[in-house]
Amino acid sequence: MANIEQKPVKITETILRDAHQSLIATRMTTEQMLPIVDKMDKVGYHAVECWGGATFDASLRFLKEDPWDRLRKFRDGFKNTKLQMLFRGQNILGYRPYADDVVEYFVQKSVANGIDIIRIFDCLNDLRNLQTAVKAANKEKAHAQVALSYTLGDAYTLEYWVETAKKIEDMGADSICIKDMAGLLLPYKATELVGALKEATDLPIELHTHYTSGVASMTYMKAVEAGVDIIDTAMSPFALGTSQPATEVMVETFKGTPYDTGLDQSLLAEIADYFRPIRDEALESGLLNPKNLGVNIKTLLYQVPGGMLSNLTSQLKEQGAEDKFYEVLEEVPRVRKDLGEPPLVTPSSQIVGTQAVFNVLMGERYKMATKETKDVLSGKYGATVKPFNEDVKKKVLGENAEVITCRPADLIPDELETLEKEMAQYKEQDEDVLTYALFPQVATDFFKYRDAQKKKVDATIADTESGSYPV
Ligand code: CO
Repeated sequence: MANIEQKPVKITETILRDAHQSLIATRMTTEQMLPIVDKMDKVGYHAVECWGGATFDASLRFLKEDPWDRLRKFRDGFKNTKLQMLFRGQNILGYRPYADDVVEYFVQKSVANGIDIIRIFDCLNDLRNLQTAVKAANKEKAHAQVALSYTLGDAYTLEYWVETAKKIEDMGADSICIKDMAGLLLPYKATELVGALKEATDLPIELHTHYTSGVASMTYMKAVEAGVDIIDTAMSPFALGTSQPATEVMVETFKGTPYDTGLDQSLLAEIADYFRPIRDEALESGLLNPKNLGVNIKTLLYQVPGGMLSNLTSQLKEQGAEDKFYEVLEEVPRVRKDLGEPPLVTPSSQIVGTQAVFNVLMGERYKMATKETKDVLSGKYGATVKPFNEDVKKKVLGENAEVITCRPADLIPDELETLEKEMAQYKEQDEDVLTYALFPQVATDFFKYRDAQKKKVDATIADTESGSYPV
């Protein structure tokens, strides 16, 4: 312990991204966020995580908002604070691997529109899936943070994490994040893991966890004592449960110690006052399920992230098979093992979860395999830490199926030019092609909606000018 540097811990605020993604299905609107940006900018956060992850998809699909426009508004408002996004490696903000030219252009445009720090992860921890994004971030002079998707299992030893961290340093990352999406990292394990990583690399280490299993604040405390540089927290109205530990609580905890964040508690209180009615409204409308606010110890038993639990519940509800919930939960770790024991994070969490539902509902394992399960088993998502279950692979793919062992994106031809042609009629800004690349159908619907809105406004102006409209 003696040689661990005791220094102020830095805070990354997640309320504008992960906190509302985890608690209210990513439904916070730009309009709800903008009025408080000015105050948040004065706090002195290390960074504000405000973009990427599921926010891009949710903005377009449910809120009918242009995510690029949201980012530009954040950039206008946050004059002194670094803006951070979450990026799914070669899967960008989507659910499948894209060609390198799309990844590069997405990084370029994210930085051009205001992002400072890009947190890049891969759902299999296959570092080859991060290369292109990291290089692109380096080129754009953004901060490239590589995240280890934290999980438990035979393969995930301390040596494994240390070796992976060294490779991340070698590949040109500026910092490392331990990304514990399910809240599995226990306090004393954090001491071990952070200690080992600090010894193995010179890069700053950030810890990201969720409160789901109830241990997260203690985990942060032990991690900070072990030398972690940055922790991710959420303002109290959108903290705890499936979200992060509360910002104010961590700030108060370290007050007067060598780890003192120096953040102003009364300014934080004003910001909390702003968000509290938004939380109350979400509780009233049912958008915020009180179930998501409690401690869910099942996440430790089944090692399933909170978001995945609620997805499984709704998938089963749709099938009228809610009584199969625990059977499916027990099937999840088995499917995970069959597929090489990957971490459960988007998109592997959805792939494993959906296959587990199929296996239980069909009454026979892998009687039906999803396209994504087939793709994982044929290597199209990359390499897993453990080998696949050969019997399952044979059953799903057949005897002589072709499998990929190279970096999957090496086999994906450049896509941008084709995409540009496909969506040319809708294009209003350069970024539109990227929106289309990620979610062709949702983007097209959004472009049509945007067009209709514009025509409405034009018509109103014309009416106003012709004097037929009350002014
Ligand atoms: Co998270």
